[in-house]
Amino acid sequence: VVDVVEPVARRAKNRYGFRAFASDWRRAVENPRVDCVDICISNKLHGAVAIAAAEAGKHVFCEKPLANTVEEGNQMVQAVEAAGVVNMIGFNYRHLPASMTAKEMIDSHQLGEIRHFRTLFAQDFAASPQTPFSWRFSAAEAGAGSIATMGSHALDLARFLIGDVECLTAMMRTFVKERVVSNGDIVRDVDVDDMTGLLMRFRAGASGIVETTWLAQGHKHHLGWEVNGARGTLQFNSERMNELRWYDASDLAERQGFRTLLMGPAFPGAEAFVAKPGMGMGYADALVIELKRFLSSIARQGSAKPSFRDGLEVCRITEAALASAVERRWVHLCEVG
Ligand SMILES: NC(=O)c1ccc[n+]([C@@H]2O[C@H](COP(=O)([O-])OP(=O)(O)OC[C@H]3O[C@@H](n4cnc5c(N)ncnc54)[C@H](O)[C@@H]3O)[C@@H](O)[C@H]2O)c1
Repeated sequence: VVDVVEPVARRAKNRYGFRAFASDWRRAVENPRVDCVDICISNKLHGAVAIAAAEAGKHVFCEKPLANTVEEGNQMVQAVEAAGVVNMIGFNYRHLPASMTAKEMIDSHQLGEIRHFRTLFAQDFAASPQTPFSWRFSAAEAGAGSIATMGSHALDLARFLIGDVECLTAMMRTFVKERVVSNGDIVRDVDVDDMTGLLMRFRAGASGIVETTWLAQGHKHHLGWEVNGARGTLQFNSERMNELRWYDASDLAERQGFRTLLMGPAFPGAEAFVAKPGMGMGYADALVIELKRFLSSIARQGSAKPSFRDGLEVCRITEAALASAVERRWVHLCEVG
């Protein structure tokens, strides 16, 4: 286990039972006893570590967003594909039983033609101007603001459930324009979005609306989405992550209304965690499912999903959004990378 702050690395080794620790990530990447590398450092370093790991023949798991630019993301995809290593991106919300169930229902046409997808990812950790500056508020470090930190998850869910995006127009706003570094002496400019709003059109024809913000007072961790099809609607909200709400337009008129599917062992991924609906899974369980799928792909020498290519597609949407917000125009994804 590696952290640039050596005592942090040592603590992690002791706490989680790693064999060794280091403060330089190259030590792990060069170590012949290491089979795969799990990249969970700030976004700016994802590319360098992933490319070096792939070139050393290691399988690579990378936290989201894949990269800060499409150019770097492309280099990462080329590196893992040239090396033939298993690669996966940390879009953990895909692995929730509710997401997998929604995907199955959409793909098997239970909702009919998909017309709308909308999602809100809202938090309030940065609502106070006193929230100190961190790498997340720097374009050079994080690539973008709420659209990268939080929106990458929302955009992956959009692609997972509905498909690729054809074009979009974006509004980005920065309300808190400078923040104090935690020691209190230095003030740094915030050059990323506090909030982003996107209007999108999917290649398959559906419309999409995405809002991401870390200034929404009261929302600690609200990732909600809704899909409206010709024959029904699905709704999900991470605050109630064991529930998938379904409106079926074919119900008898006098019995119509949303029903709640409570995730249990009959739903994909939940069987290992709960014996009955109502026992409830949590955020960390989706990470376990995610890493199980990554490690299983290595064991059977297959490929993992979502892959670096899926991460790259989200980077392309983010870059299109940045261009749209600056140039105040619709951007087609074919214009990007
Ligand atoms: N999938 C998710 O739900 C999720 C949630 C949180 C964070 N993330 C992602 O995980 C990554 C890390 O986020 P975080 O919130 O843990 O950040 P963080 O700043 O809290 O932690 C980053 C750690 O990396 C260490 N570090 C910094 N530079 C280093 C270097 N050169 N070599 C080795 N270690 C170094 C820091 O000391 C720190 O301990 C980001 O890419 C973020 O987007 C994903």
